[in-house]
Amino acid sequence: MKGFAERLKHTEEYYFSKKLKEVQGLIAAGKPIIHMGIGSPDGMPDASVIQAITQSVENPANHGYQAYQGIPALRLAMADFYQSQYGVTVDHTSEVLPLMGSKEGIMHASLAFLNPGDQVLIPNPGYPTYSSVARLLQAEPVPYALKVSHKYWPDFDALEALDLSKVKIMFANYPHMPTGAKADLQLFETLLAFCQKHQIVLIHDNPYSHVLEEQPKSIFQLEGAKKVALELNSLSKSSNMAGWRVGMLVGKHEWIQAIATVKSNMDSGMLKGVQEGAVQALGLGKDWYQELNAQYGARKKLIFQLLDKLGWGYSRDTAGLFVWAQLPQGVAATKACDQLLYEKNIFTTPGTVFGSEGEGYVRFSLCVTEEKIQEAINRL
Ligand SMILES: Cc1ncc(COP(=O)(O)O)c(C=O)c1O
Repeated sequence: MKGFAERLKHTEEYYFSKKLKEVQGLIAAGKPIIHMGIGSPDGMPDASVIQAITQSVENPANHGYQAYQGIPALRLAMADFYQSQYGVTVDHTSEVLPLMGSKEGIMHASLAFLNPGDQVLIPNPGYPTYSSVARLLQAEPVPYALKVSHKYWPDFDALEALDLSKVKIMFANYPHMPTGAKADLQLFETLLAFCQKHQIVLIHDNPYSHVLEEQPKSIFQLEGAKKVALELNSLSKSSNMAGWRVGMLVGKHEWIQAIATVKSNMDSGMLKGVQEGAVQALGLGKDWYQELNAQYGARKKLIFQLLDKLGWGYSRDTAGLFVWAQLPQGVAATKACDQLLYEKNIFTTPGTVFGSEGEGYVRFSLCVTEEKIQEAINRL
């Protein structure tokens, strides 16, 4: 054995893959853990979605390899979703690529654009996969700070002051995980103008657009955005389908084709039943999202009560699946989370998992029943 690849030296095991083993150990030891650590929706997909996959898997003809770019009905449903939800026109034959979740799209898109030594602008705090994928590809993540004082929006003056000559991709994500910050179209416009000016591909990661957000947004609502941006989207959060692994990438034909070339060498398409279930989910109307959001809204209020008990701060006007709690001055995030875990059996995520700007913050997931949140409140 001549050893592992160089790239592994710069890559750590994903935080949750490590921490969840510890939490599983505590559960096995009989600890009554309340799991507020991860954004995996606990609800079922709509009954019609279950019916669609069930019917599909019962058909013996539906178990073979599927088209690399998804079945046409799925691409059409994705394009229709963009039209009905965001008022955005997408050509289903050339501008949309079904993915096995948006997480894999981060890898595929990065593989299509990045060479070793290239730089990638990533939000700090932000979804850790942006930087770990860059590192796996021997590119360099360049974190840009998102501060509460700036509504967790990028500071474009600070960005302009950087040497951007080697930056090829900028990741942005609104509604933002983990802070829940929302964007407006003006922010999208500024992001697009910045990336256009510096010839950077903007990848907008949009899996939370329908979670506790009154007006779901897409970067493509802006004129000319396809020249500069790609958008990742997902059924994981808004359709209760995280384990199904269905997402999508939307953008101009030339870029989608390049990324599809990468992807076609890495997997061989999703089970037809998964795709047919996804078609059904994408066609669900306002009622589905309203019901889902009523549930998350009620849970969020209870999390606020829990935070009031702890004496931690939070912002009310946020979207997405999490509450971003501010610790009292000087309290370290990992210490606060370990204390909750070991003393109260409540599992939460330290903000530092999302970057250095997450110090002093703890992320609470809304994927926990009201009963469990109430029990957590009682434990305090
Ligand atoms: C910001 C963000 N992007 C992407 C993902 C990946 O979602 P999926 O691969 O399930 O579509 C997540 C999941 O937690 C996320 O928080």
